[in-house]
Amino acid sequence: MFFLLTGLFLSVLSAQLPGSSVSDARALDAVLQDYAYQAFLRPKTGVVYDGVVPSNLTGIQVSAMRLRSGSLRTRGVSMYKEFEIPKGVVEQPYVERLVLVYHNLGNWSMTYYPLPGYTYLAPVLGLLAYDASDLMAKNLPELYIRASGQPISIQFSELRRVPNDGSVPKCVLFDLNGSVNLSDVLSDNICTTFQQGHFSIVVGGGGAEKNKSKVWIIVGAVVGGFALLVMLGLVVVWVKKYRHRKKMHKMERAAEIGESLHMTTVGSTKAPAATGTRTQPTLETEYVP
Ligand SMILES: *[C@@H]1O[C@H](CO)[C@@H](O)[C@H](O)[C@H]1NC(C)=O
Ligand SMILES: *[C@@H]1O[C@H](CO)[C@@H](O)[C@H](O)[C@H]1NC(C)=O
Ligand SMILES: *[C@@H]1O[C@H](CO)[C@@H](O)[C@H](O)[C@H]1NC(C)=O
Ligand SMILES: *[C@@H]1O[C@H](CO)[C@@H](O)[C@H](O)[C@H]1NC(C)=O
Repeated sequence: MFFLLTGLFLSVLSAQLPGSSVSDARALDAVLQDYAYQAFLRPKTGVVYDGVVPSNLTGIQVSAMRLRSGSLRTRGVSMYKEFEIPKGVVEQPYVERLVLVYHNLGNWSMTYYPLPGYTYLAPVLGLLAYDASDLMAKNLPELYIRASGQPISIQFSELRRVPNDGSVPKCVLFDLNGSVNLSDVLSDNICTTFQQGHFSIVVGGGGAEKNKSKVWIIVGAVVGGFALLVMLGLVVVWVKKYRHRKKMHKMERAAEIGESLHMTTVGSTKAPAATGTRTQPTLETEYVP
């Protein structure tokens, strides 16, 4: 019972893409790294190069920009598509030059980043960093980039209209392990992040009712669970009391029997004493006359 309850709570608190989605999304990251690097011929640093994706990924945009890591750290990038990268962004492990790969997943957003109960108001955008030392490399591991001062901001250009049902849009961040984080949208269409990953704006519309009923189911389960626990406790207490009373009853009866036995023994010894008292009236009658 207790494990069931904690399980319910955990499923509410931790948002995570299902494992199969994470591996699909990571496979796409690897494919897009390759296509982004193919956009480089004689790349100048700090210039955006748009890649061409294979026909079975039409609808996805990919770009690449090569940078000295020192320049990223001390100057940032004022505008890279929707991303504004402030100074203070550092990578781990350190490399001399890196490539920032940009993704716009367009109509493939929901395919690669399914988020049940939410609707995307913008395409999923990605910003990932790789080592630039070999521009022919495939299957490169990502570098871990982190904003140490101001956060990186993402200005989404064409937001779909917010449904008119009072639901509030949220920024969503998917890290490379598939963890999902929701945060507030700034000035209508801006999200901020201190790390790389994939980003979008979502609204809990449509799913809001579903979520509400989910919450009620959980509340019901918790309250019901506690009621059941309390009832179980009462039953245990009652059984204990009943056993105790039964025992007391037995003991009482045993005591009664013991007492009656005692009485008889006392009675037999008392009997002569009683005859002794009976003699008194005879004494009395001796005095009265
Ligand atoms: C797209 O097609 C290529 C072959 O051109 C294939 O290797 C790849 O797996 C396909 N990708 C997807 C996501 O279907
Ligand atoms: C996205 O749109 C393109 C055409 O613009 C289409 O070829 C592709 O199948 C669409 N992808 C999805 C997942 O619907
Ligand atoms: C992802 O998970 C690995 C190990 O499972 C961990 O080392 C890494 O820090 C995680 N990355 C993020 C961005 O949470
Ligand atoms: C998600 O949000 C929590 C709390 O706001 C924060 O502690 C955590 O680091 C965030 N995770 C990621 C991957 O940004």
